[in-house]
Amino acid sequence: MRKPFIAANWKMNTDSQYAVELASGLEKAIADVKGVNVAVCPPFVYLQSVAKSLSVDGNVAVGSQDVYFESNGAFTGEISCEMLKDVCCSYVITGHSERRHVIGESDELINKKTIAALEAGIKPILCIGELLEEREADKTSQVCERQLREGLKGISEEQLAEVTIAYEPVWAIGTGKTATSQQAQEVHEFVRGVIADLYSKNAADNIIIQYGGSAKPKNTKELMSCKDVDGLLVGGAGLKVDSFSEMVKITE
Ligand code: G3P
Repeated sequence: MRKPFIAANWKMNTDSQYAVELASGLEKAIADVKGVNVAVCPPFVYLQSVAKSLSVDGNVAVGSQDVYFESNGAFTGEISCEMLKDVCCSYVITGHSERRHVIGESDELINKKTIAALEAGIKPILCIGELLEEREADKTSQVCERQLREGLKGISEEQLAEVTIAYEPVWAIGTGKTATSQQAQEVHEFVRGVIADLYSKNAADNIIIQYGGSAKPKNTKELMSCKDVDGLLVGGAGLKVDSFSEMVKITE
């Protein structure tokens, strides 16, 4: 049985005051929700204040949007897993399409970050997904398979139990163009097949696969009704207590 997991990726949004208001408002709004795992991923600089504003036994976890794979030293501007743990982060997003395509991160770097997170006891949310031109050239499966195989290189089946995969078609991110539930289901099923091939049927049956890309209250029910969609990674709609808590409640 896979417990649904919904995470909000705040990206480079909010300020110190709004970040805390958003997190604590969300915690209140979903205080009675038991059947969904929920996380918020604020910018680095607000992680600590957000974590402090949440109750230790509450149902909102904190995640980071990125991390560096080295644990300390001369890496100007970078943040390590140890630092994330120090401010109570339990998740980290790796391989987000904006890191891949805007910042230029390679599969190899994403793999190092994912491994570093696992070794430090932080749960990675490994993002994969094709560009519009890749979808139009019928390369969706090829791209997703490569990103999965490269991203999960060297990760054991035991470690995989801590990994969430997020399928985010790049053309659906922030565009208002959600993948249809059929498109999402097709890729999610394919991803589960790749996991079965790389690990085992049991690993594939248990891994949580989120969908991301213009997910909002209006399409939550339909997306979540797909057999292989286990959760959502939410951008824009995660920046408001009302919309995000509604998505969590619809999922429950
Ligand atoms: O990581 C979440 C994401 O990239 C989707 O963003 O704004 O389309 O929900 P959005």
